[in-house]
Amino acid sequence: MTLSRAAAIHMVAPDTSSTPPGIAHGDPATIAEISAGLLAPHASTSPKYFYDSLGSHLFEAICELPEYYPTRTEAGIFARHGAAMARCVGPAAILIDLGAGNCAKAASLFPLLQPRQYVPVDISSDFLQQAVGQLRQRFPAIDITPLVIDLSQPLLIPASVPRAHRQFFYPGSSIGNFTPHEAVAFLRQVRENVGADGGLLIGVDLVKDPAVLDAAYDDAIGVTAAFNLNLLRHLNHLAGANFDPLQWRHVAFFNDAESRIEMHLEARCALTVQWAGGERSFALGERIHTENSYKYTVESFSRLLADAGFRVDGIWTDDARWFAVMHAAAAYA
Ligand code: AVJ
Repeated sequence: MTLSRAAAIHMVAPDTSSTPPGIAHGDPATIAEISAGLLAPHASTSPKYFYDSLGSHLFEAICELPEYYPTRTEAGIFARHGAAMARCVGPAAILIDLGAGNCAKAASLFPLLQPRQYVPVDISSDFLQQAVGQLRQRFPAIDITPLVIDLSQPLLIPASVPRAHRQFFYPGSSIGNFTPHEAVAFLRQVRENVGADGGLLIGVDLVKDPAVLDAAYDDAIGVTAAFNLNLLRHLNHLAGANFDPLQWRHVAFFNDAESRIEMHLEARCALTVQWAGGERSFALGERIHTENSYKYTVESFSRLLADAGFRVDGIWTDDARWFAVMHAAAAYA
């Protein structure tokens, strides 16, 4: 009896030397990218892995935190200067929303911009589908064409989206996730997807008192910590990893020399993590760099837009100059 049960267990027990600890749900390219980041001398992961469905909801919660000023400040700028922005953008635009999330920011501008077609682009497919369903009911006159695109890959807007009157919308300072060099390359791609009569309406977070920045990325009740730690759950799902979130700590600070907020996950103890096709040991205090969020001045970001082939023709800020919304037209029409 005992013997046969032991034999049966032995029969079904997986060979742990060749089988990943979990079932990986990512494609091989995703697993390879995650693996390369985790194995680098300074381990890192792309911020795009924050946004599974729970991560997208946690980001929505971040936007409601008193410490997280960008969303509120940008909304205030839209509310106060929306009419001027609409004059800058012009009529009957195709509005292409990069990293649309819940589409709330663009929707708040629909009454002013009155786009003919709205193209929300996001990496989180389920979240986007949900948002679009609600939006179609609220705005039946607008043609809504969602696109699931990874913005860290080359930007290809399909031919089904007309080229004339394309207005790109990139709010929330999402551009901050790129290094300045990558940001120019990305904006150049946007520039190539804009017709001669199109443009870009973009939100940019500005350099300010580091204490304000630190608090915005390390809030008192730990929502940002949960957002950062949720990345580990998502990696477990995508790469069949066995991260234990309890072994990690949220770290966020403003790096003045690089003009960026850095977020990291720091090991609370010495530990080893396995995933599909790889493993790594982390010493106590060793970190995984999970996000950069670059902060600009109006001047430094204007230069960046110019380098990408845009001509800035509108700048709006709040009174404290914590955040800017800029409009840029194709420079060489
Ligand atoms: C979505 C990239 C604009 O950098 O402020 C918020 C993400 N990370 N809190 C940002 C984020 C932590 C956010 N962006």
